[in-house]
Amino acid sequence: MIKKGCLDILQQKCENCHDCILGSTRKNLVFSDGNPETAKIVLIGEAPGETEDETGKPFVGRAGKLLNEFLSEAGISRENDLYIINTVKCRPPENRVPTDVEKSLCERYLTAQIDIMNPKAIVFCGATALKSFWHDKKVQISKVRGNWFDVTINEKTYKAMAIFHPSYLLRNHSMEEGSPRRLMQNDLKEIKSTVLGTNPFSKDLVVV
Ligand code: URA
Repeated sequence: MIKKGCLDILQQKCENCHDCILGSTRKNLVFSDGNPETAKIVLIGEAPGETEDETGKPFVGRAGKLLNEFLSEAGISRENDLYIINTVKCRPPENRVPTDVEKSLCERYLTAQIDIMNPKAIVFCGATALKSFWHDKKVQISKVRGNWFDVTINEKTYKAMAIFHPSYLLRNHSMEEGSPRRLMQNDLKEIKSTVLGTNPFSKDLVVV
């Protein structure tokens, strides 16, 4: 219960946070989902949407339901294997992309969560999450997704991979070889076998 205790204290601080405007427009803080004691992977999304704001949980709307389908098909347990967070903890009005200021004011909570979790791997779900930690802000997720890379956060280095955001997959239905949905299936399979398999990170890391 050590991680949960630290995260609970951090959540209390977030509940009182009004550092940016999102703190006044939110209905609920969306702190995290998943079991911090068993999760080996931290998955970072963009920002809470309407359903997340209503419920206080990340990825519970349409995109979240699609993500759940892909996860269960890959044999990844959302409840036990993942700790899910977003680049910002409060919903941006009209579901706009969070601004750089909002992200940077929220970053200390995000990096503290990662620090406490000390995950085996970080999964950046979508371009906004990836760009928050990638050196080149013009990076294209389609070019780097599916490859393992190293990311250093608060002086600790983690294995990381970017995957498509499920909202993008809601607009792309094709299941043909090479389609975004097929690539998502492959990426999650790779994450499952490499992070949750019996021989984690036995493969050479691809430097991208
Ligand atoms: N999209 C995200 O990036 N995060 C959520 O929590 C929900 C939708």
